[in-house]
Amino acid sequence: MRKGKVREHWASRFGLILAMAGNAIGLGNFLRFPVQAAANGGGAFMIPYFVALLFLGIPLMWVEWALGRLGGTKGHGTAPGMFEMIWKSRAAKYFGLLGIALPLCVVIYYTFIESWTLAFCFYSANGTLSQMANAHSFHDFFNGYLGGNGYTAAYVFFVLTVLANLVVMWRGVSGGIEKLARVAMPMLFIFAAILVVRTLTLGSPVPGHPERNVFNGLAFLWNPQFDRLSETKIWIAAAGQVFFTLSVGFGVISCYASYLRKSDDIALSGLSTVTLNETAEVVLGGSLAIPLAFAFLGAGAVTAIAGEGPFSLAFVTMPLIFKGMPFGQLLSTIWFTLLFFAGITSSVALAQAAIAFMEDEIGWSRQKAVGAISFVIFACGNLVMFGPGVLGEIDFWAGTIGIVIFALIEVILFIWIFGADKAWAEINAGADIKLPRIVYYVLKYITPIYLAALVVAWTAQDGISVALMKGVSAGEVPWRWGARLLIAVILGALIILIRRSRHLKKDEAHSHG
Ligand code: TRP
Repeated sequence: MRKGKVREHWASRFGLILAMAGNAIGLGNFLRFPVQAAANGGGAFMIPYFVALLFLGIPLMWVEWALGRLGGTKGHGTAPGMFEMIWKSRAAKYFGLLGIALPLCVVIYYTFIESWTLAFCFYSANGTLSQMANAHSFHDFFNGYLGGNGYTAAYVFFVLTVLANLVVMWRGVSGGIEKLARVAMPMLFIFAAILVVRTLTLGSPVPGHPERNVFNGLAFLWNPQFDRLSETKIWIAAAGQVFFTLSVGFGVISCYASYLRKSDDIALSGLSTVTLNETAEVVLGGSLAIPLAFAFLGAGAVTAIAGEGPFSLAFVTMPLIFKGMPFGQLLSTIWFTLLFFAGITSSVALAQAAIAFMEDEIGWSRQKAVGAISFVIFACGNLVMFGPGVLGEIDFWAGTIGIVIFALIEVILFIWIFGADKAWAEINAGADIKLPRIVYYVLKYITPIYLAALVVAWTAQDGISVALMKGVSAGEVPWRWGARLLIAVILGALIILIRRSRHLKKDEAHSHG
């Protein structure tokens, strides 16, 4: 660690777990999961999902916690510094590039989506939404918000969201992020529980349609369809969801873990993070949007809505359904507040990687780093806001392909280069639970092979057609190139910064002071 600078630490274990849970629990749990599950055949999705959770998600969670705690002991909060500690190569630090670039790319569009939840919170509370006449008006309202009626409102809420994030980050890891999580996470669980209870007690809300009830909606999600297990696409989608929801493969979990103390437990805390996230995802996320939409609109509609992507369900269908329920205005406000809490506790985590990098490796003060990163998010957010296709393009490269590649790098470096036995000792140091030995073999063989298979399958299935922009409308092409240029600029800037850093190694002979 650099002299004269004391690294921040989490103030309490409870706060740490909530912050980690806040990191993982996000819009992905309440919007992306139900839509992915429904679009991939409901019950057909859940088996590959749990397989990916066991063999990818949980092992990667421990790897990231262990890497992070190790990095933190030498004052490194991001992957370039961590990789140098486990691999004595001049190239190591460059392999860590993605651990800053991926979350920085994702936070740019994530903050924009988060700002819609803030806006819809406002529109629920002030009654705007409850005055809509029918499904069409909800649809038009959402499209209007996103530019159809000009960008004023979207812009204002985006700026407010960036500022809200800035305030939290400004106050630091324990003073900002941890304090936020201590309030927002319990509220999120309470709000979700209220909505779930309301959903499960609905019965069959549509007269004349007894088959439209929440239990059939749950069955749609849970009855396994073994005959569809041979579809590669479903396996890829399930693994992608596990990555996204746990926030693994981005370098952000390890960034949070770098604020642990040397002797802190990671085995149990990492597992607790997964458990909280899966409760929020499978139990709460799975019991809301899909069963509700099923009960009110029927099976056909659910599949159709899921096909429209994650946003229709949350911003069009849910407010429409709430409008038809007693206390709908309140329930709708609760729904969007919940989403906003889920979003902000994740966006501060996404931004933290770049902030930690500027602080740890470039020597900036926290305030300067927060200011600069907030500005980048705001400036690049404009491209996402005004450029059709930009969000999807960044999400594909950073949020889909990039994370699998980065996870593979992490696992190979940690397990194979650093050494499986040292890695295992690292994970188990200070542990409050004893991990079964089988985890060791999973980490050593299954996780890397699984990841490599995913990289190949992904490239074969989507990679090439997306790279060539097959099926993209002519109007989006220049914007999508703009998005790629932006990603290239971010990568380039980071390479220069990594190279210039005085705190990362200059050559093999030089070691840390
Ligand atoms: N896990 C978050 C969610 O479910 C989204 C996310 C993906 C994320 N990667 C991240 C959040 C990295 C924080 C850091 O919505």
